[in-house]
Amino acid sequence: MKSVYLEEHPWKIIESQFDPQKVKASESIFSLGNGAMGQRANFEEQYSGPSFQGSYIAGVYYPDKTRVGWWKNGYPEYFAKVLNAPNWIGIDVSINKQPLDLHLVEVNHFRRELDMKNGCYTREVQFTLADGTEGQLKSIRFLSLNEGELGAIHYTVEILKGQAEVEITPYVDGGIKNEDANWDDPFWKHLETFNTGNFSALRSSTLKSNFDVCTYMYTELVSHDLAPEVDESATKVSHRYTTVLQAGENLTLHKYGGYLQSMNHQVADLIPAAQQLAQKAAATGWEALQKTHAQAWHTIWETADIQIDGDVAAQQAIRFNIFQLNQTYSGKDARLNIGPKGFTGEKYGGSTYWDTEAYCLPFYMATKSETVARNLLQYRYNQLDKAIENAEKLGFRNWAALYPMVTMNGEECHNEWEITFEEIHRNGAIAYAIFNYTRYTADESYIPEMGLEVLIGIARFWAQRVSFSTPKNKYVMLGVTGPNEYENNVNNNWYTNYIARWCLQYAAQQAEVVAKTHAADFERIQRKTTLTKAECKQWEQIASQLYLPYDEAQQLYLQQDGFLDKELLPASELPPNERPINQHWSWDRILRSPYIKQADVLQGFYFFADDFSADELQRHYDFYEPLTVHESSLSPCVHAILAARLGNMADAYRFYLQTARLDLDDYNKEVHEGLHITSMAGTWMSIVEGFAGMQIQQGILSFRPQLPKQWKAFTFKILYKKAPLEVQLTTAGCQFIWHGKAPISILVDGEQQTLQPYTA
Ligand code: BGC
Repeated sequence: MKSVYLEEHPWKIIESQFDPQKVKASESIFSLGNGAMGQRANFEEQYSGPSFQGSYIAGVYYPDKTRVGWWKNGYPEYFAKVLNAPNWIGIDVSINKQPLDLHLVEVNHFRRELDMKNGCYTREVQFTLADGTEGQLKSIRFLSLNEGELGAIHYTVEILKGQAEVEITPYVDGGIKNEDANWDDPFWKHLETFNTGNFSALRSSTLKSNFDVCTYMYTELVSHDLAPEVDESATKVSHRYTTVLQAGENLTLHKYGGYLQSMNHQVADLIPAAQQLAQKAAATGWEALQKTHAQAWHTIWETADIQIDGDVAAQQAIRFNIFQLNQTYSGKDARLNIGPKGFTGEKYGGSTYWDTEAYCLPFYMATKSETVARNLLQYRYNQLDKAIENAEKLGFRNWAALYPMVTMNGEECHNEWEITFEEIHRNGAIAYAIFNYTRYTADESYIPEMGLEVLIGIARFWAQRVSFSTPKNKYVMLGVTGPNEYENNVNNNWYTNYIARWCLQYAAQQAEVVAKTHAADFERIQRKTTLTKAECKQWEQIASQLYLPYDEAQQLYLQQDGFLDKELLPASELPPNERPINQHWSWDRILRSPYIKQADVLQGFYFFADDFSADELQRHYDFYEPLTVHESSLSPCVHAILAARLGNMADAYRFYLQTARLDLDDYNKEVHEGLHITSMAGTWMSIVEGFAGMQIQQGILSFRPQLPKQWKAFTFKILYKKAPLEVQLTTAGCQFIWHGKAPISILVDGEQQTLQPYTA
């Protein structure tokens, strides 16, 4: 699949022509992030054409008052908006008193590159101004992986023809708004401006949520010995440097900047700490900073890279996905999480969805140290109190916990009743992640220390959420929305009932294990939760009698009660001009249709692979996939994995392509809004769990490797039991190189193999 406007390259994303229609899309694609902050690839200098300005700070949000047509009791008061933060990258340029604005000048040459190997974004432009002056600009930008609060820009303006007075004005600007504000409220309040020498800072606070943020810059000309003229306005401060350049001469600026915020500093320390950081950066120097930043990226690639031989587009795509995941979440801070758009746009708000547990955890678990995955779990543990409050608001009692559909700080902030109140399967993914982490890492301390409390809260929720149906003589779950959001308020969504049943059993079983193996922890948990043996028995009893809709004739689990009453026409028969249906059909037509937004029953088959035979998987895949429209970015990856498990590599590869180049090729025509960060982890899963068939089966790491015929080979590493395991798959077969200290046993196509530690 050839990309439309981006060149293929194994390590870079390259745009080599200036197309104003693509500016917003490229702003998303060339985004930078370092886990603590991130920004769309906005031009530094002013741009009057269509653009979507966006800079974001991890954890900083605004509680935007809920806006709904009709208020329903239980709705959250606010929607947590990922906040567009003050701009620290801005550099205005004027040449002979004419602004350098790519929308207004003639652009003779344009090239931008995102160098994923080194974590750096560069842009080169040659232009002609209205008065005939010709010039070029070059900017190189990175957000330091070593210092989360530091970004750096190397910016050069050169005159190619003529002589010109060049004025270059780097600034920080706090007068920023969100495009998606519900009530057009301002989100920021400007508090103070501070200037000394080459350093300037703004201190602002977010309204209502009261995050204090210092946005700073330190600027220095490296080409000329000039001091900045400082200009201050209400919410902005700028440094002006002016000089006259002859053809062939340039003006080069280094700008260091970024954010310090009150989650990490005392308010009184924000500006002094920023000043110290900036001075240290300037003393270290741009080149040295860039070098250590690039080294930090090389360390990430050392374990996270996937090499694909024989398909540059696929190679570029998988690296783009891995790069963006690492830009979004570094795993250093258990208060942070992975928003569906990361630092690349405003849509979705909040930072945490079930996406984290269901899709992202496997990637971070296998490519980073164990503490990163544990931090993701601990995030939910830290928010257990809020999940209990959230359930109480909806009428649940006795420490039952309902985790939010969308959150920033543990409070629910999603406000569509059919999702907020009904898409409760999210609770299941959170428990499943604890199981998934424990079986992969064999870390036996997480459950007694934290996980069991979460499992108890979740089990109590399910035990109260079911009701007993006398006609069915079973427990049922009424009024839910499954992962397929194209059905709302259904009874007995199979996936929800299945995962609820599993949660009840798993919580009871883990309570028993902890009681036996960690008596002191168990006593503490019992005191806190008043858990009794009788309650665990009751969970098991509910689980054993939980209804799962099933059609005997076709031997099929049904997505929900009554699913077979629908007119089951395959999605392939839908007229192409009506796809995606969510942009062409009325909502009620979608709800009555059989079409499935994303894996629903099949999500259960993905999670609980060991519970079903190959025949059962085939039957359910053949029934549900043709009805699936894959209108969530989270859909193709699960189908790629299941297709690979069935040996159907044609489907597996087709779905892989849909997930891997979703943003680069803009399949959904929405990349301008930001990237689909959480589904990028699904791309990684499609290769590792799909093509390589990695699973933990009965406690053993296992593989069922298959090479897509479009590739010559692929290689990846995972961290397993704290050591790297390299997997190389070529047309000649599969090779495993184990870098651990002691031998391990793995299963390859069901056969046990012992891997000896690698010796060079
Ligand atoms: C999907 C959800 C997902 C959310 C955020 C929705 O379109 O249906 O499953 O949690 O996007 O990625």
